[in-house]
Amino acid sequence: MCGIIGYVGEGDVKQIIEEGLSKLEYRGYDSAGIAKVLENKIFCKKEVEGIKKLFSGFESFDNVNAGMGHTRWATHGAVSEKNAHPHLCCEGEIAVVHNGIIENHKEIRDSLGQHDYISETDSEVAAHFIEEKMKEGKTILEALEALRDVIEGTFAILVVKRAEEKIFVCKEKSPIALGIGENGNYVASDIYAFSGFTERSIFLEDGDLAVVEQNSLKIFDKKGNIVERQIKDFEWEERRDLDDEHDHHMIREIQEQPDAVKRLLDSYETFQKEFFEEIAEKINSSDKIIITGSGSSFHSSMVGAKLLRDIGINARAIVASEFDETDVMEDTVVLAVSQSGETMDVLDAIDVADEIGCDILSIVNVPHSSIQRKSDISIEILAGQEICVASTKTFTNQLVTFYLICKELGKDIKFEKLVEDIEKTLERNQEISKAVAKNIKDENDLYVLGRNKYFPIAKEIALKLKEISYIHAEGLRGGELKHGTLALIEEGTPVVSLIPEKDSGIVSNVEEVESRGAKSLRTSPFYGCFELPESDFLPILFSITGFILTYHTAYEKDLPIDKPRNLAKSVTVR
Ligand code: G6P
Repeated sequence: MCGIIGYVGEGDVKQIIEEGLSKLEYRGYDSAGIAKVLENKIFCKKEVEGIKKLFSGFESFDNVNAGMGHTRWATHGAVSEKNAHPHLCCEGEIAVVHNGIIENHKEIRDSLGQHDYISETDSEVAAHFIEEKMKEGKTILEALEALRDVIEGTFAILVVKRAEEKIFVCKEKSPIALGIGENGNYVASDIYAFSGFTERSIFLEDGDLAVVEQNSLKIFDKKGNIVERQIKDFEWEERRDLDDEHDHHMIREIQEQPDAVKRLLDSYETFQKEFFEEIAEKINSSDKIIITGSGSSFHSSMVGAKLLRDIGINARAIVASEFDETDVMEDTVVLAVSQSGETMDVLDAIDVADEIGCDILSIVNVPHSSIQRKSDISIEILAGQEICVASTKTFTNQLVTFYLICKELGKDIKFEKLVEDIEKTLERNQEISKAVAKNIKDENDLYVLGRNKYFPIAKEIALKLKEISYIHAEGLRGGELKHGTLALIEEGTPVVSLIPEKDSGIVSNVEEVESRGAKSLRTSPFYGCFELPESDFLPILFSITGFILTYHTAYEKDLPIDKPRNLAKSVTVR
């Protein structure tokens, strides 16, 4: 994945890159690096211990008007300083940062003459390729054009050259936005990397090349023609600072859920109403709806598909990384669900569907994201920026969006009590979760049981426990337990069960594990160890309980809650 930011212009280049990189950390935080353009060389610094450390020791970039930074999520080569970007060519004349994967990096490398490679990455070959083409007499832009045409894979690449206050850019599949400032111009993986500095942006299209200078932005399309791309004004309210009340973004974001839900419900009555109407119309006029997403967004897609099936709509959820042309026909409506709006697997699924001629709808959190831009109609879940890698308030708002779509389709759903139910769930379960967390924190394995629409919630709670609390957890269909997993239940095995009604079918599954000595954590509005109000929105309340439990378990274990190992919030590689 990785995040990229570059700037050419007046002002504190160091501050712009440092801020940009910290905003991009959700794309990867294994290591980071910067390059600044000096007269006689490119200055590079890399660090595996975080962005703060990378910038410690720099007062400012005196008299420097161009620089770029990179925050990495390792795909090729270990997490190490030498594998961190930027990568220099042999002579140190140019530096390159890359987001994506150069699949044919070995072939490109073999096609070049002798070069000294420092890293184990796929990306470094780009620096040497450009160096070789420049030796043959090409300009950087021509070299970049040749590179773009030879690479197989996905890429957003920035190049700087010593003594030139310019950033050269090319992209294919990986997102890149240009930012138009007063005294300089920006380039970054996402608009909010430069959102504190400018709110005017241009999104590059696949195959584009660009040259960013202090007073100009030039964009060339695949054919080499200079093109004008639409300037978009955007607003992005960011919340990156933790207040005294919260130790981590995760718990702050969990607590923000009532406000986030209110915002979404209000929008349904006002400025987003027309999008709900249009989406309902599309769904009504189609024979088949495929909902697709990854990770937590896939779990919410599963719940959404079930809610739609319950009102007679032929809807299925398919995990984005396995979506293919056999899943859809021309008249299928595809609904893509994504917090970031940038997940590569979902973008690939959209491309497949688009090729076949399907209508593309989406539910996203990040406005102007690639998925939103590729959709015919898009609903924003309005959860606000989410920083913790694990999605909490955005998962909740995805579920609320599905309930709202069902309402728009004619189901009688009353939302009046929803916010209050969420508030009660949050209030009543903090202390309980702290106690349960102490009890389960040293467990290696845990099972979460759910049936029907609660099965995806069981999977979501298990995912949270894995990614944030580092406990191996499995979400299971209650009825399937006796067909295999029951063999793993022994004295003291922790089992969380989601019991929506006293006489629900899952109760017999719970009894099966209890009679084998499981440490049973019944979760229900009627009895059990958590306190939930009776509600029409139990999938939401169950998942919130799971989020709080996960948070407190990870807290007890003193884990890096907001940035769990090996993960990134936005996954822009396959
Ligand atoms: C990553 C994140 C998950 C997220 C998934 C899908 O794996 O770590 O928390 O659910 O991507 O992301 P999206 O932005 O498409 O919802």
